Amino acid sequence: MAAFDIDTYLARSGAVDLWAIDWAAVQKHPLSPEAIRTMRYMQDIESHTIVYLRSLLATRAIDDPDVAAFLACWVHEETFHGLALERFLAAAGHPIEPRPTPHGHENPAQWLEARATAALSQIWPDFCAVHMTWGAINELTTLMGYRRLAALTDHPVLAEMLEHITRDESRHFFFYYRQAEMRLQRRAVARVSRLLVNRFWAPVGSGVQPRNELRFMAGYLFADAEGRAAARKVDETIRRLPGFETVQLLEAWLDRFAKGGRNGHRSE
Ligand SMILES: [Fe+2]
Ligand SMILES: [Fe+2]
Repeated sequence: MAAFDIDTYLARSGAVDLWAIDWAAVQKHPLSPEAIRTMRYMQDIESHTIVYLRSLLATRAIDDPDVAAFLACWVHEETFHGLALERFLAAAGHPIEPRPTPHGHENPAQWLEARATAALSQIWPDFCAVHMTWGAINELTTLMGYRRLAALTDHPVLAEMLEHITRDESRHFFFYYRQAEMRLQRRAVARVSRLLVNRFWAPVGSGVQPRNELRFMAGYLFADAEGRAAARKVDETIRRLPGFETVQLLEAWLDRFAKGGRNGHRSE
């Protein structure tokens, strides 16, 4: 895997160009109800990034100038992923209705989680290692999810939009992964990070969207042979991080989920 150059990333960072997309052509091509439902989930998660950022800013995340600069561009790009998906769904004739819980408000579980994360960050100086690892897992899962969506649909406007989005997600992943790799070199840091991931990790969007929606999306994107292979790729990549050689992530979650097991929680 190539090195990540933060200066190049910052120089090239940019939002999806909403003006360049041919919205009028969206309805000229068919889209399955499954794809629409999956995009609604993805749109919600993307637009939730700003809420997630609020809890991140209460941690040590911004103490490192590279991480701070990255996060500023990252939230900008993620916000535009949400806007692009929202615009696409409206153009497809499936506008997003106002959600019952406005994004500015956390539910009690999210509130507690944000406070616990901030407290952990205060007492553990290497908190950023687990944050970067978490980010790498979730960005790679998101990237694979969008790639699966592109493969399962045959829609030229969507394909073009997803090309930009997946390029962003792939750069997000590289940043987090490289940071995690550096920070997990110290064995004690890797051990604590691994414990936290083992205990608390769950797929992107758990706890933000209803469990049924997560289940539906996972089934649509990751249940068939190609989906399984994509999930395996996420796990295998993360297992190359120091201390994460045997970690059980997406595939194990899919197995539990297929057997009707419990879901966890977490956002991108
Ligand atoms: Fe995104
Ligand atoms: Fe991302």
